[in-house]
Amino acid sequence: MTTASAPGKIILFGEHAVVSGVTALGGAIDLRAKVTVRDLPGSVLIKTEELVLRGFSLDLTTDRLTSTQAAHATRYISAVLREFGVKDIQVCIDSSLPQAAGLGSSAAIVVAAVAAISQHCGLGLSRKEIAEISYRLEKKVQQGLGSPMDTALATYGGYLQISRDIQPLDLPPLEMVVGYTKMPHDTKSEVEKVQDLKKRYFDLVDPIFLAIGAISKRAVPLIREQNPAELGQLMNVNHGLLVALGVSSRELDELVYAAIGAGGALGAKLTGAGGGGCMIALPGTAGVDALMVALRQARGVPFKVMTGCEGVRLEGDL
Ligand code: PMV
Repeated sequence: MTTASAPGKIILFGEHAVVSGVTALGGAIDLRAKVTVRDLPGSVLIKTEELVLRGFSLDLTTDRLTSTQAAHATRYISAVLREFGVKDIQVCIDSSLPQAAGLGSSAAIVVAAVAAISQHCGLGLSRKEIAEISYRLEKKVQQGLGSPMDTALATYGGYLQISRDIQPLDLPPLEMVVGYTKMPHDTKSEVEKVQDLKKRYFDLVDPIFLAIGAISKRAVPLIREQNPAELGQLMNVNHGLLVALGVSSRELDELVYAAIGAGGALGAKLTGAGGGGCMIALPGTAGVDALMVALRQARGVPFKVMTGCEGVRLEGDL
């Protein structure tokens, strides 16, 4: 039996602009997907009943993954098994990341599965190979445009600056609060929407992308020097630009305003493709608890995350 786990991620700055090669900044978070593979002669079995949202204050009836969500995860695992021609195996997924929420759940599942199979079958894949294969497989299943942000963060962990290439950054951890709208989002259609807007209004959208890229770059020294007040301001500006691109939603905006209003956050923005999914907020002097209360009052599901966490790893005997 072999188990590997990989982290989810938040995009701190630069979603959508990164699809056009503009700089983005993301961090791996302390919520992980775990994939266990075991020999099962004569069969290929993918078990997803352990795929539940744990650690969230959802009630248990909605806590269990729906069959759609389980089917979604199964498609990624099938792609990994096909890639390596693996048979006679059982694969179990156990994830504490909500799916289709912009927290990199599919990438974490793919990366953990590739790493577990590499170890189990003695393939000896390097991290670079795990990242590249996982990116290719994730894109194949999603059939869309997209940056390697999620699969790279699930593989390498920490913080990554992504533009045309991927650069690891050594930055201190940040405590953030994520607010989940409970609305699933569709990355492919949000990306297509923005790319279409760019085609029609290049003269308007290109400067927005460039401004987003400038924010991603300015944020790096602010995280390094631990300047949360200015970092929060940049989050607010980035959120405004994402609103201009048409990828926010009423639910996301309500959580953002609740965070910076009653929640006393220093800044807040949607994270990921938008249209639903999650926002992130940087706690202010009122603290994490006040922020979580405000997000809950605005009908979100809040949870604390740390950024800059470890990438894919093999787990010991469980
Ligand atoms: O929704 P997510 O977590 O898959 O984030 C998508 C981020 C985009 O920049 C919109 C697309 C991408 O592949 O980078």
